Amino acid sequence: MPNPIPSQNPSFGDMDPEAFRAYGKQVIDWIADYLSQPDKYPVLSRAKPGEVKAQLPAAPPAAPEAMGAILADFDRIIMPGITHWNHPGFFAYFAISGSMPGILAETLIAALNVNAMLWRTSPSATELEEVVLDWLRQMVGLPDAFEGVIADTASMAAVLAIAAAREALGLGIREQGMAGRPEVPRLRMYCSEQAHSSIEKAAILVGLGQAGVRKIPVDAEFRMRPEALAEAIQADRREGWLPFCVAATVGTTSTTSIDPVPAIAEICEREKLWLHVDGAYGGSAAIVPELRHVLAGCDRADSIVINPHKWLFTPIDFSAFYIRRPDVLKQAFSLIPEYLRTAEGDAGTVKNYMEYGVQLGRRFRARKFWMIVRTFGAEGMAARIREHVRLAGEFAGWVDASPDFERLAPTPLSTVCFRARPAQSAGADLDRLNESLMEAVNATGKVFLSHTKLNGVYTLRLAIGNIRTAEAHVAEAWGLLQENLERLTRYN
Ligand SMILES: Cc1ncc(COP(=O)(O)O)c(C=O)c1O
Repeated sequence: MPNPIPSQNPSFGDMDPEAFRAYGKQVIDWIADYLSQPDKYPVLSRAKPGEVKAQLPAAPPAAPEAMGAILADFDRIIMPGITHWNHPGFFAYFAISGSMPGILAETLIAALNVNAMLWRTSPSATELEEVVLDWLRQMVGLPDAFEGVIADTASMAAVLAIAAAREALGLGIREQGMAGRPEVPRLRMYCSEQAHSSIEKAAILVGLGQAGVRKIPVDAEFRMRPEALAEAIQADRREGWLPFCVAATVGTTSTTSIDPVPAIAEICEREKLWLHVDGAYGGSAAIVPELRHVLAGCDRADSIVINPHKWLFTPIDFSAFYIRRPDVLKQAFSLIPEYLRTAEGDAGTVKNYMEYGVQLGRRFRARKFWMIVRTFGAEGMAARIREHVRLAGEFAGWVDASPDFERLAPTPLSTVCFRARPAQSAGADLDRLNESLMEAVNATGKVFLSHTKLNGVYTLRLAIGNIRTAEAHVAEAWGLLQENLERLTRYN
């Protein structure tokens, strides 16, 4: 984006506002061009390790540089090292979207640069957060007993949930810690073998240790087995553990399986355990009326997380954490030094979000979701999710109908788990073949797929979640898989 516009204010202040205006227009034009041709670049960056770094000066520039030169370097050096999550052929991990209203919102968020730690540090930020979280709660059909807090990620939401569950035990752990207290039994929590690693990481952070997380076996469709959970809790109690929390998943990372939350909730109620639901990916599907059943039983949970930054078109980051007893979360985390004390907060008339989590500094993320829901409408967002699920169903159908491929898990949402198993493959190393197939299709630059292992078997995943993905892109992925399989098996 070369253009010789002065970018320095001769004084010691910020950039010159007129230069900002001119470059701002250029940047917005660049974004509009980029997003109107999102498949112009290879989806998976072709940069070799160290290639980007080698083009960057090791030391910071001592003298001012022109914005035109900086933006030119962005095109020349940075762009080749970008993997394009906006590309409609991005099918890896969980595909996400930086939608245009979300991008506009991010720009305004940066411009205001609000820290939403206290109500008074921007009343609009706090009150909009309360409102948009309640909008999403209504959109997914959760009861109004749940109150929300925006977290950066579902990983942090898991920390909040487990810390709140621990606080609810009333063991004075906030004050006294857990170590060196013989009167405090070892705490144990439960999740399925298919739960996301963030649950275990959160447990590490909260001081349970990995031994404090017991992984419950899954059924043939990768869902937690409630009877195995019940047995594990009993066995642990006999051995002196204190079971206190279960994390169920609605939409596991590998296969998008949905744990049987109603049966798990039953156990949690009986055993008096905190139930956290990780709906980071799958929870979003509940905005589609005919998919609302994915959250069945979640009305009985103590906490639940849904990630608009995964499947609700919100640029990273935005994770919606809902809790039935926000007072417990506050009890776990509220710590008000004198310099943050406010009369409004003390009177209990306003919410100071810093009291409901770990970080003090909080971005004005609510604004993104506000602009996105208003731009697309709740029904428009549901229509997009519905289409993604339909496209995944189409792809799953092609896999099922092919003699050379097979599906390795049910497809309840928008992610298909499958592998190549060519008719003439007897004796072939299918794991190697599928890894080579994935590398071959990814090398085309047109699609990006990732993998997992299911029952020890190398499994390809095609995850649909980008707002720009249409049927043609899914068909292209299928065509590339078939062509490349043909090529790989022909020469082997
Ligand atoms: C089921 C599930 N839970 C949690 C996470 C972690 O999400 P985040 O990146 O917001 O921490 C993921 C990420 O893919 C996930 O799939």
